[in-house]
Amino acid sequence: MVRNLLATLVLATTYGIVACSSPSEAQSEVQSETAEQPSSEVDPAAALFPESLLKEFLTWNPVTEGDRAFPSEGHQGQTVRVYFNQLARPAYETQDIESISFAPGSLIAKAVVEDSSTPATRARRVYFMRKMNPGYDPANNDWAYAFADRNGDKYTYNSRQGKVGLCITCHVAESKFDFVRTVEVFRKDRETSPVANLLQ
Ligand code: HEC
Repeated sequence: MVRNLLATLVLATTYGIVACSSPSEAQSEVQSETAEQPSSEVDPAAALFPESLLKEFLTWNPVTEGDRAFPSEGHQGQTVRVYFNQLARPAYETQDIESISFAPGSLIAKAVVEDSSTPATRARRVYFMRKMNPGYDPANNDWAYAFADRNGDKYTYNSRQGKVGLCITCHVAESKFDFVRTVEVFRKDRETSPVANLLQ
């Protein structure tokens, strides 16, 4: 009873998810389908970060060799795994550090895991960045931000309206990497032996 009330309160404070008062897995399936088909009824936040991303990110490219988890600098003590989609690949692989620029449609996910043996499927939180078309937020390199938390086997977005001041203020410090800090992690990882990394 109390738990149900709490769950409803939590959902009521989330952005854009509360299409009906008793969300179920069936409902999120529907939301995920509608999010992919442009329609005037689609919640813009859900179109930006559809439910499908919560599984899709597991198929993206790991930033580290062998998908090694590493300690987060941004959130001390936390262990993370970071993934990027194919559109983001050329930017990660750009040799000339001065010219790093992520293409619109680039997506990056950062999964916060318990420890280095926890797979991303069991992350307790997943952060997302999505590169939008020029003009979305030109002062901040046109990135949109979101994050989702796991409850049992299901992830729920807690924020996906896109322009999040807190995220931006920190990521702006990485403007030389087009706001993506793990470009450096990706580069450094490939300078060192993958075996040494795996043994860490
Ligand atoms: C205190 C600074 C800080 C804040 C606030 C912050 N980040 Fe980050 N973020 C980082 C750092 C540092 C990294 C590099 C990986 C690491 O050390 O965790 C990172 C990495 C990421 C990545 C992987 C791509 C990359 O930039 O390397 C995503 C996605 C991400 N953050 C999303 C978010 C979102 C969404 C928010 C807001 C809810 C947010 N971040 C807030 C510092 C921050």
